[in-house]
Amino acid sequence: MNNILFVASECAPFIKTGGLADVVGSLPQALKQYEKQEVRVILPLYDEMDENWKNKLEYIGSFDVELGWRTQEAHILTLTYNQIIYYFISNDYYFTRKGIYGYYDDGERFVFFSQAVIEALKHLDFKPQILHGHDWQAGMAIALANILKPIDGMKTVFTIHNIQYQGVMPLDIYEDFFHIGREHISGMEWNRMLNCLKSALFHADKITTVSPSYAEEIKNPYYSEGLHQMLENRSEDLVGVINGIDIREYNPSSDPSLFVNYRSARSKKKENRLKLQQKIGLPYKEESPLYIIVTRLVEQKGLHLVQHIMDEFLEKDVQFIVLGTGDAEFEGYFSALQHRYPDKAAALITFDETLARQLYASADFFIMPSKFEPCGLSQLIALQYKTVPIVRETGGLKDTISPYNVLTGEGNGFSFANYNAHELLNVLDYSLEIYNNPAEWQKLYKNVTKSQFSWKDSAHQYVTIYESLSRELVYG
Ligand code: GLC
Repeated sequence: MNNILFVASECAPFIKTGGLADVVGSLPQALKQYEKQEVRVILPLYDEMDENWKNKLEYIGSFDVELGWRTQEAHILTLTYNQIIYYFISNDYYFTRKGIYGYYDDGERFVFFSQAVIEALKHLDFKPQILHGHDWQAGMAIALANILKPIDGMKTVFTIHNIQYQGVMPLDIYEDFFHIGREHISGMEWNRMLNCLKSALFHADKITTVSPSYAEEIKNPYYSEGLHQMLENRSEDLVGVINGIDIREYNPSSDPSLFVNYRSARSKKKENRLKLQQKIGLPYKEESPLYIIVTRLVEQKGLHLVQHIMDEFLEKDVQFIVLGTGDAEFEGYFSALQHRYPDKAAALITFDETLARQLYASADFFIMPSKFEPCGLSQLIALQYKTVPIVRETGGLKDTISPYNVLTGEGNGFSFANYNAHELLNVLDYSLEIYNNPAEWQKLYKNVTKSQFSWKDSAHQYVTIYESLSRELVYG
């Protein structure tokens, strides 16, 4: 039996800002199928978490966390959801705030969380053989697990969901945080800064990331955010495992958010579209295909490319809707676009899960031209709702979407290689051409309806990783 403890800063359905929460939420559910693995999850307890969840929490105990010359109290609480046990670390000073990130002391907040996780291991009736950390917020927990060895023989796995965020702080606060010798600084510093992600890459027994292509890309300076050498050094312990999604959760035949449920009938997608466009006030045009973007409005998502060519593309007989919030630059751009093309474009500058699902159900095409994309979940959700993804060939997008090929009739979407606006425009034009050719469109649509990325295979790969580490434990 493997006991595995996930350490993360967010987890659906309790608290979510992005794809990390979806993965930390759904992977333990998928691993539940394997009798020999018991996964539990430990998270910070944010004030922001919904009262309904808070009311279900039970208190386990309290302890002190020494942060250099200061002491902070931590409390552990727990709840069980869908047969998985979740632990929450509470501390008023660090986590009773609005939202979950974006504070000047985020680094310190998650160093505290990481130290509290290590301390909590002494107080739980669950002794993990494997501590599995996700992203930089859990990085120091992985480093400290290796340095302090709180549980005999416990191994560590660290998953990179996005190498862009590393949790970087001035080095001179090392002594304010840690009770470990200065000899450990070299494993924790990068460019004379304390770096949580690098610390985990240095200390983890195994490193995973969320797609095989991204595992290769991050060894390359264009994608590595400075850490390519580090990853090159550890390449024997680095693997890419593609994320899955919860296919019961994202299921158009039962999703209560939709106007009309469907399995794959295009006529039903059109009914959804009609209702959606009435709701948001974009005139419905039966003949023009609907292209959508649903994303955080940030540079990573390739929005500069979209900005460059959307006026030109909207000259064609198409409609376009974007949903999301983010950088003012993009929010402003899309709002202005709607203003210029009131009959063709709509900008929904909001984060609304119901609206997002209604969009996936209504659209013909989903545009995701990311500059980099460790895995990407939205293209997988689009496939579930029978919406054709148009992506840039990077990271997980490359590993999940294969371009439609008229010669073989294979492919579940469209893609382009270089981060170049006109390559995007060309592929958008090409997608329209295929759409207007009923025979080709039908073949593509059929491929899309058959394309599905559940957790089944990927969960199995994680099990293999855990088992290889626990074998090391047994055989030394
Ligand atoms: C991050 C990545 C995204 C990935 C998600 C879950 O949000 O940017 O590509 O799908 O983590 O692993």
